[in-house]
Amino acid sequence: VPTVLRVSPVAPNGVDSETIAQAARVIRDGGLVAFPTETVYGLGANALDADAVGRIFVAKGRPAINPLIVHVTGAEQAATVGHWTPEAQRLAEQFWPGPLTLVLERRPQVADVVTAGLDTVAVRAPDHPVALALIAAAGVPVAAPSANRSGAVSPTCAEHVVASLGDRVDLVLDAGPTQVGIESTVLALGPLRLLRLGHVSRAAIQACVGPVVMATQASDEGPTSPGQLLRHYAPHARLIAVACGDGPAMVEALADRDRAGLITHRATSAHDPQVRLPSDPEGFARGLYAALHQLDGACDTIIIESVPAGEEWAAVRDRLERATRD
Ligand code: TXA
Ligand code: MG
Repeated sequence: VPTVLRVSPVAPNGVDSETIAQAARVIRDGGLVAFPTETVYGLGANALDADAVGRIFVAKGRPAINPLIVHVTGAEQAATVGHWTPEAQRLAEQFWPGPLTLVLERRPQVADVVTAGLDTVAVRAPDHPVALALIAAAGVPVAAPSANRSGAVSPTCAEHVVASLGDRVDLVLDAGPTQVGIESTVLALGPLRLLRLGHVSRAAIQACVGPVVMATQASDEGPTSPGQLLRHYAPHARLIAVACGDGPAMVEALADRDRAGLITHRATSAHDPQVRLPSDPEGFARGLYAALHQLDGACDTIIIESVPAGEEWAAVRDRLERATRD
């Protein structure tokens, strides 16, 4: 079991500086620290230290072709790892700190292992006082994927991190459950391309910088983001999406053959085990991964009710499509 340190998620007098200093030392010494962000927990290492970043790939069992996001305190530090443009500046002013990752032309300081050999680098400033305090105290940009074994459901609390990674991580900063609940939006600059959907919507980005091409599906010309190649966000249990409102009938049909869990947001049912999520997109996203983690251990099959077709559900729908894909 790794060392887990509680740290206050709110910062009335600044976050606990002793704990942050201890975690920052682990990062500077080349170790791995799991830390909270507003989206999901990240598994962090010094982005300028190739050996340290290599340990992230080993701990996660992550394919070396899948590059990492570099976490920074803001635009100034982002400009030390990537080529900073007026467009990047405009986006950062509007959305940072926050769940928007920008893919920029890289600078040579970044370890090759971070970018999987690409000539671009992904950067974001997370909107979480603990994450920002850690990066500032470490004094280096922090490369961090989600803090789970590769391909598994991302962690939205410290318990998920410990269950997935165990002592493959040196230290876990526990600030309770995350707010957003799904991973950041990923946007490539140059010709603007949306590589991953998230809480920051395409409409909001377009209102800031103009037209953005959707590139969230690997195309015939090959993936624009290496992560698109991989099965993602999936629980161990078989996950089946059913029409909105059809969840209870489906678990009843399965009940005797399978240990089936149910995730609803519309229908009501007495089925047990069951997680009922809020029926608004933000609330649903916040609770989705915890629901999957909770039911995964106890069930062979998880039945989840599909979400509505609207644009405001796009990011959640994307995660469900990837998680239910074989
Ligand atoms: O919310 C988040 O983004 C979380 C927290 C910890 O910040 N992090 C996260 O990291 O979800 P990860 O490694 O699970 O996902 C990073 C995604 C992958 O799909 C990866 O392929 C893509 O970003 N990516 C990273 N660098 C890239 C690059 N240079 N070009 C294109 N895609 C890149
Ligand atoms: Mg991930």
